[in-house]
Amino acid sequence: MVAVHWRLELEHACQPRSCVTPESAPEALPGAAERMASFAVRRGPTFLDVGTLDLSPLLVQVAADRESYDTLVVVGIGGSSLGLRALGEALAPTAFRGRGGAHRVRVLESVDPVELDLLLDEVDLSTTCVHVVTKSGSTVETLANFFYLLGALTEALGEGEAWRRVRVTTDPNEGPLAALARERGLPVFPLPSGIGGRFSVLTPVALFGLAFAGVDVRALVEGAAVQRTRFTAALPGANPSLDLALALCRFYEAGLRDVVFFPYVTRLFPLALWFVQLWAESLGKPRGKGEPLGPTPLPAVGTNDQHAQLQLLIEGAHNKVVLFLAAEEETSPSHPPMAPFPPALGVMRYLENAPLARVRSRSMEGVQAALTELGRPHLTLRAASLSPAAMGELVMLLQCATAWAGFLWDIDPFDQPGVEQAKRYAHAMLGKPGAEALRQRAEGLLRGAANDEGSAI
Ligand code: PA5
Repeated sequence: MVAVHWRLELEHACQPRSCVTPESAPEALPGAAERMASFAVRRGPTFLDVGTLDLSPLLVQVAADRESYDTLVVVGIGGSSLGLRALGEALAPTAFRGRGGAHRVRVLESVDPVELDLLLDEVDLSTTCVHVVTKSGSTVETLANFFYLLGALTEALGEGEAWRRVRVTTDPNEGPLAALARERGLPVFPLPSGIGGRFSVLTPVALFGLAFAGVDVRALVEGAAVQRTRFTAALPGANPSLDLALALCRFYEAGLRDVVFFPYVTRLFPLALWFVQLWAESLGKPRGKGEPLGPTPLPAVGTNDQHAQLQLLIEGAHNKVVLFLAAEEETSPSHPPMAPFPPALGVMRYLENAPLARVRSRSMEGVQAALTELGRPHLTLRAASLSPAAMGELVMLLQCATAWAGFLWDIDPFDQPGVEQAKRYAHAMLGKPGAEALRQRAEGLLRGAANDEGSAI
C-alpha cells in the first residue's frame, strides 16, 4: 500500500463560468494520456526514474565532506538551484537559513557583486567546500560566480587545496564543465541527459546539498518514486497530479490564467519560487499555430501576502485561481509561552495562548471563506506533515501536474527555446568568439534597429 501524504481538495474550485471536477475531463485527455504513456516508457532516465539513480557514491562523498567541512557553498541557478532552496528550507531550515547547527549550506545564484561579498564575509573558507551545478556546463552566471569563489579559496588556501574542495554536477556527456572535471579529476555526480534542469530536484543537483544539510535523501526520493504509477495514470479522480492539471487547464481556458501558489508555511516560500519556474518555463510557449500559452504562476506566502496581494485576489480582475498549500504541523516544542494579555487588550482575549499554528490556519480559512463568498475559485493541497517522504511526493506531484498540463495542451513541457535564445545573446554580448553576427543583431535590437527577419529562435 503506497503512503499518501498530500490530498487535493477541489470543492471550492467551482465557479459560475466553469465547474472543474475530475469527471468533467476534456476531450484532450485521451491524447494527453497517450503522450504521458510514451513519456513514461522513454529510455531515460527521465524525472520519473529518480528512484533508479544510484545514490551511494554521492552519500559516501557527502559523509566524508561532513567530517571535514562545516559549510557547503552550492553554485548554480534556475533549475540548478531553486529545487535545492525549496527542499533545503523546507526540510533543513537551520542549515539553510540559520547560523547554528553543525552544517550549513549557502547558495550562490544570480551574479551580484554585493551578494558575493556578503557570502565571503559570512563563511569561513577554511572549513568550506563547493558544489558547482550546471547541466549545460556553460551558464555564465554559474561559471562567473564559481571562478570568483575559487579565486577566494585559492587566495585563502592555495590552488591545490582550493580545487580539492570542488564537487561537480553536470551532464557528463557534454559541456565545458564536464571537460574541466575530467581534466582536473574532480568528483562528478552526474545529471543524466534526459532530465531537464527544472525537473532535476530529486537528482544530485539538489540531493548533494540536502544530504550535506543532514536530510534523509533516500526517504525523500522514495517518497517521490512510489507515486510514479499513481501520478502517471490517466485516471481522473484517482490521480491528484492529473486532477490539478485538469483543473488549472480548465481555468486557463475559462480566462483564469494566473495561478497563485500560496503555501501557508513560511519556509515553503522557496517552493513557490521553484513552482514558478517549473510552470512558467515548461508551459509559456507557442501552442501549434494558435496563440502562445501564457499560464502565469505567481508566488505568495501566508500569512504575509494577506497583507500584500490579497485585495487583488479577492476584488481584483477575475483572472486568477489560488492554489493553497497547508500542512497541519507543529506546535513548536521550543518556543516560550505567551505573556499574559493586560486588561487594555481585553478585546483581543480570544487570541491569548492560541498556538501560532492555529492562528495561521484560521487566517488561511478566513481568506478561503472570503474567496468563496465572491465566487473566486481556490484549491488546496493538504498534508499532515512535511517529512522528507511527504516533500518527495509533493515535488513529484507538481512535476507530473506540469507534464500533464503540457500534454493536455499538446506542447513539449521539457524544452525552453526562448531561454536558450536569451543565453545565446548573452554569450555573444560578453564577447564569445564566432558569435559576432549574433552580437550585432542583439545590439541592433536594443537600439530599436531590428531588421524584419523576425526571431532567430
Ligand atoms: O530548467 C532549465 O533548464 C533552466 O532553468 C536551467 O536549469 C537554468 O537555465 C540553468 O542551466 P544550467 O543548469 O545549464 O546551468
